[in-house]
Amino acid sequence: MSTILITGGSGFIGSHLIDHLIRDNHQIISLDNHITGRPSNLDHLKDNPNLKTIHHDITEPIDIEEKIDYIFHMASPASPIDYIQIPKETLLTGSIGTKNMLDLAQKHSARLLLASTSEIYGDPLEHPQKETYFGNVNTTGPRSCYDEAKRFAEALTMAYHRTHNTNVVIARIFNTYGPRMRPNDGRVVPNFIIQSLKNESITINGDGTQTRSFCYIDDQIDGLTKLMFSNIQGEAVNLGNPEETTISAVSEKIKTMTNSTSTTTYNDMPENDPIRRLPDITKAKNLLDWKPKTDIETGLSATIEHFKNNMQQTETTDQ
Ligand SMILES: NC(=O)c1ccc[n+]([C@@H]2O[C@H](COP(=O)([O-])OP(=O)(O)OC[C@H]3O[C@@H](n4cnc5c(N)ncnc54)[C@H](O)[C@@H]3O)[C@@H](O)[C@H]2O)c1
Repeated sequence: MSTILITGGSGFIGSHLIDHLIRDNHQIISLDNHITGRPSNLDHLKDNPNLKTIHHDITEPIDIEEKIDYIFHMASPASPIDYIQIPKETLLTGSIGTKNMLDLAQKHSARLLLASTSEIYGDPLEHPQKETYFGNVNTTGPRSCYDEAKRFAEALTMAYHRTHNTNVVIARIFNTYGPRMRPNDGRVVPNFIIQSLKNESITINGDGTQTRSFCYIDDQIDGLTKLMFSNIQGEAVNLGNPEETTISAVSEKIKTMTNSTSTTTYNDMPENDPIRRLPDITKAKNLLDWKPKTDIETGLSATIEHFKNNMQQTETTDQ
């Protein structure tokens, strides 16, 4: 049994990670300021003695009494609709917040996993994206607050590794979906599901031929935990689903699966929205023996079920 600190534990991925680690009998401490996460994501664990939650903004330094063995550094706004509204908080969480967590890791001799993102590749000119690709990011565009925060976080993480020998690893997470996403967080899967369930018009940005790859949450958690508990150090590893699908195809699938009568509305493509996004996961396959196992129908069906059961919270927003 280890003591594991999770930043962003009330968020979508963080809360699933906590479920998994609690099942494996670890002692969990979650730090979250709830800027985009929901405390209710951990309600089912509130009487669990192995979980301690601390309301804390990680841009402020913190000391933890217990000896920490591992840090999953997941805290950051992650949806474009969030980070475009709070760009300064996003940049400070990625920079100062990451520094504070690296200092904590160093102090406790803990291993830190940084949750990075496929967004560090920007609007990629190389397909699929390998870890060796340097990216194509507009440093002043509306998405730069997120992309550059994560690029800085990766650079700082590597600087601690090189300067202090801090035990670190970087997960470059590609689009992940599943239960507990916020219905109004603006990402395509919850948007399309809510619109379909309400028989409202499905809003697609652009003409729908842009592609994404969608990784189901259970597979992502499997990849993140395999990576954390591996002996890989000072390297970045892509974690995502290598199956490419168009946005139109996803919307059609969701419409069919929800028996929806929704029509489709096409909006302008937001500035710097990537046209293609596809991970090369050869490294994760070779080093971790990991690849996603959940097919899109199974993942969507569990996610649709979740939103059906939580319809009262649902309000749609832009994509
Ligand atoms: N979901 C995806 O598809 C995806 C893709 C790529 C990368 N990621 C990364 O994975 C991580 C988790 O993403 P998510 O989808 O669960 O997002 P989320 O918004 O659901 O969760 C992020 C959590 O971090 C917390 N947080 C943000 N700033 C904080 C701060 N300064 N102090 C304390 N807590 C703070 C939020 O309140 C929230 O609970 C993020 O780092 C994100 O960049 C996610």
